[in-house]
Amino acid sequence: MNKRRRIYEGKAKVLYEGPEPGTLIQHFKDDATAFNAKKHALIDGKGALNNRISEYIFVKLGDIGVPTHFIKRLNMREQLIREVEIIPLEVVIRNVAAGSLSTRLGLEEGSALPRSIIEYYYKSDKLNDPMVSEEHITAFGWATPQEIDEIMSLALRINDFLVGLFLGIGIRLVDFKVEFGRLWDNDQQVRIVLADEISPDCCRLWDITSGDKLDKDRFRRDLGGVLEAYQEVARRLGVLTETPRPRGAGPVLVTSNGTKPN
Ligand code: TMP
Repeated sequence: MNKRRRIYEGKAKVLYEGPEPGTLIQHFKDDATAFNAKKHALIDGKGALNNRISEYIFVKLGDIGVPTHFIKRLNMREQLIREVEIIPLEVVIRNVAAGSLSTRLGLEEGSALPRSIIEYYYKSDKLNDPMVSEEHITAFGWATPQEIDEIMSLALRINDFLVGLFLGIGIRLVDFKVEFGRLWDNDQQVRIVLADEISPDCCRLWDITSGDKLDKDRFRRDLGGVLEAYQEVARRLGVLTETPRPRGAGPVLVTSNGTKPN
């Protein structure tokens, strides 16, 4: 394959120059990080699962009219996307108390919230992604008031849709994080579109009956079974096409007639 120009490398993904102007290739890595990359591991097969899961969700959101950067999946680990100017905000939508909200406000994990809550965090590894208000966002020019309105309404639509989608496969969408970007069309009009990814890396997904965590909290909290949890989400969504081989498992011996020996 031709050597592609690397545009950006994040903790879990790499962006390469795309085949056409205005396109990029988004490559999903197996790296898992938490606590601003203080904790790091390789989880063999995670990238391929997130690529599939995120493709599925972005296509479904596109179907209901949510504009996204997604064009098509290219292979196991990569998708073609539109190049956007990322708005430097992590937009978190919460339906149930958990994680940093529980810690900050002393709410028991799993307790119901009076309504869905949106929070904004300023994307800055150096500052540890501090929580910010709309006042900060508009005063410092990270987004305009109109863009914030658009982001909020898209975030709520995405949440309503995803709560139902996951409920249909026996999963409670506790909370999740999304990112948005500015896309210029031919008339140089700017549009806000959903960017980045939606996968168990950036959601809290709890099994409805057992309460089992099917997301990156398994890695953050050393619960084990990270890959199996991601596979379970992919399986329930109907996008698990093949089982990634666990790390360390060698090649499987196959006999000359194609069967596995006993
Ligand atoms: P929090 O409870 O730690 O603030 O996380 C809220 C949601 O945002 C949760 O679903 C995990 C996701 N998230 C990310 O995707 N990236 C991050 O860097 C953090 C801190 C959270």
